[in-house]
Amino acid sequence: MADSVTQKPTRTPLIAGNWKMNLDHLQAIAFVQKLAWTLKDAQHDFGSVEVAVFPPFTDLRSVQTLVNADDLPLAFGGQDISQHDSGAYTGEVSGAFLAALDTAYVLIGHSERRQYHGETDEIVAAKTAAAHRHDIVPIICIGETAEDLEAHGPAAVPVAQLRAALEGAATGKEIVVAYEPVWAIGSGQAATSEQAQQVCAALRALLVEVLGADAAAATRILYGGSVKSGNIAGFMRETDVDGALVGGASLQLEEFASIVRYQKHVGT
Ligand code: PGA
Repeated sequence: MADSVTQKPTRTPLIAGNWKMNLDHLQAIAFVQKLAWTLKDAQHDFGSVEVAVFPPFTDLRSVQTLVNADDLPLAFGGQDISQHDSGAYTGEVSGAFLAALDTAYVLIGHSERRQYHGETDEIVAAKTAAAHRHDIVPIICIGETAEDLEAHGPAAVPVAQLRAALEGAATGKEIVVAYEPVWAIGSGQAATSEQAQQVCAALRALLVEVLGADAAAATRILYGGSVKSGNIAGFMRETDVDGALVGGASLQLEEFASIVRYQKHVGT
């Protein structure tokens, strides 16, 4: 069984840029055009790396139009989704609307949503179910605070959060997991690649238990939290890390492109 979950080459690396509340739709168009141009050689040399951006909702239609018109090799997704499909939920965005814009992915349960918007494990599970109802791949974000780490050790809280989120996952549908230690987000203080691997291995063991060995082996687990061009290669060398969820650095064109080209840094 151990062998079946260590076939890293079968998992396409995913580098995801979480723009958070930055860039309006005009800025998004300019950024995506430049990014696609900058990554042209990366797609050529490292076509196996999938790149996705997560703009604010108001940008999605513009990004979709651009990606479709120019057939850009770039995926995009929402930063959140409502657990409801329609109705009197002022300010919420339905998965049906995201699906209508060809949205491939949606971030669910980002620590900023958990912290500032009271998203509980139950809500995260309901949003995971909503994403699957609309054939959008949920990127389930989990991670421990510094206090959790102190009190419970490295993997306990992320594993419990993922277990709860999987309650909402539909059988046989793809998920992506993003392990983001809260203390590492936006702090400039990333986890070490060994710390990330330790937790990601525990998360994959849970996926084996809940989804079975084949689905666990196929599921991508991302690391997030102060990822930069200088540390990405170390994370990507780890057996159970299949990509990165990048915040601040995803808004810096050259830096983000350099993260996507991480294979150039391997061995350096
Ligand atoms: P950061 O953010 O890369 O700025 O630490 C990561 C995230 O919040 O997804």
